[in-house]
Amino acid sequence: MRMVDIIQAKKDGLALGREEIRFFTEGIVSGAVPDYQAAALLMAICFQGMNREETLELTMAMVDSGDKTDLSAIPGVKVDKHSTGGVGDKTTLVLAPLVAACGVPVAKMSGRGLGHTGGTIDKLESIPGFSTDLSMTRFLDCVNRFGLAVAGQTGHMVPADKKLYALRDVTATIGNISLIAASIMSKKLAAGADAIVLDVKTGSGAFMQTQQEAEALARTMVDIGNGAGRRTVAVLTDMDQPLGLAIGNALEVREALEVLRGGGPADVREICLVLGGTMLELAGKGNAAQCRELAVRALDSGEALQKFRDMVQAQGGDPAVADDPGILPQAPFVEPYRAIAGGIIHDIVSDQLGMASMVLGAGRPTKEDAIDPAAGIVLVRKPGDTVVEGEVLAMLHTSETGKIAAASSLLDEAIRIGSGAHEFVPLILQIIR
Ligand code: URA
Repeated sequence: MRMVDIIQAKKDGLALGREEIRFFTEGIVSGAVPDYQAAALLMAICFQGMNREETLELTMAMVDSGDKTDLSAIPGVKVDKHSTGGVGDKTTLVLAPLVAACGVPVAKMSGRGLGHTGGTIDKLESIPGFSTDLSMTRFLDCVNRFGLAVAGQTGHMVPADKKLYALRDVTATIGNISLIAASIMSKKLAAGADAIVLDVKTGSGAFMQTQQEAEALARTMVDIGNGAGRRTVAVLTDMDQPLGLAIGNALEVREALEVLRGGGPADVREICLVLGGTMLELAGKGNAAQCRELAVRALDSGEALQKFRDMVQAQGGDPAVADDPGILPQAPFVEPYRAIAGGIIHDIVSDQLGMASMVLGAGRPTKEDAIDPAAGIVLVRKPGDTVVEGEVLAMLHTSETGKIAAASSLLDEAIRIGSGAHEFVPLILQIIR
């Protein structure tokens, strides 16, 4: 088999078979296929697309390119959750203990973040002492003893994705639904869960900016998951405005703790009830209404908060954080951001708000940058609120006062104040089964 023939076939609009796809993925990991040929095939895929069978085959070939997590030592149905990423998305911090409190084991592998804020791992590591660097034995032991564990992704999972993602990033071939779906789902399948709930976000702060694109991605990923024998459901959610009020690592942990105490912002609580309820449904805990009720009870009874305490203790952190978020890192400078005009807040553009939080230190512009766990933004006002000029709209948290001016000018753009009514978009747009 020759790579040039595979490229030619895809360029001519033909469907690739199992052997051709595996020749490609094995070749990029071993180095037998050079980057220029891999990039040429990626570009041909962008122009000609991949059908359902090819997309599933590519995903499975990527899964087989590296190690897979074996969760069979944990009894019961293991349900994973994935979010396509959004500004202020702290749902995993709530969902892991919520689902565990309902008797469903959670063995979660998570990543670090690039861009606006950290990922779940960065957020959890803002808790003093908390370690996400667990051996497989300790990871499985924590899940079996306490019902949950969240660990950083280890070594050699899906090396084909690492290679391909880096190439796609520099060859303008990121934006193809099959390539995105295969990239996300290969990592989820390799992580070993029996069922998967996908939170696919759409809007200004999301990877897929239109609802149509988000739905196409969601359907493709649901197809892959089910095709691979894992029950998969996608929930399409709005990311036109940030989720909750807090953006930044320790600030988001604090907000997640409010939700785990039965309070917190209504949008964060609602999305956690929908995603958590769907995870419980996939684990066989009942129908949609029964599972939502279980999720409500886990939050309002304090059982989910207790699971959070257990997880923090088991992973070396200070469990007192659950009752005293004051022990989280705090920024030395907390400055108000004030409205530049009066009127109604029409929009808080999520990606611009995310940029402002990154400027304050909450995110990492490149993989090598360090995160300031205490930095970020806490909104005081949300879209639809009427405000007067000079009123405080947000609090900016940072370790360097020099960063406040740049973040404030990004907020001048991000927070749009006008005179007409704000148009509300529902948070939960669609559930794809
Ligand atoms: N996230 C991923 O993991 N892969 C993509 O291709 C896009 C977003």
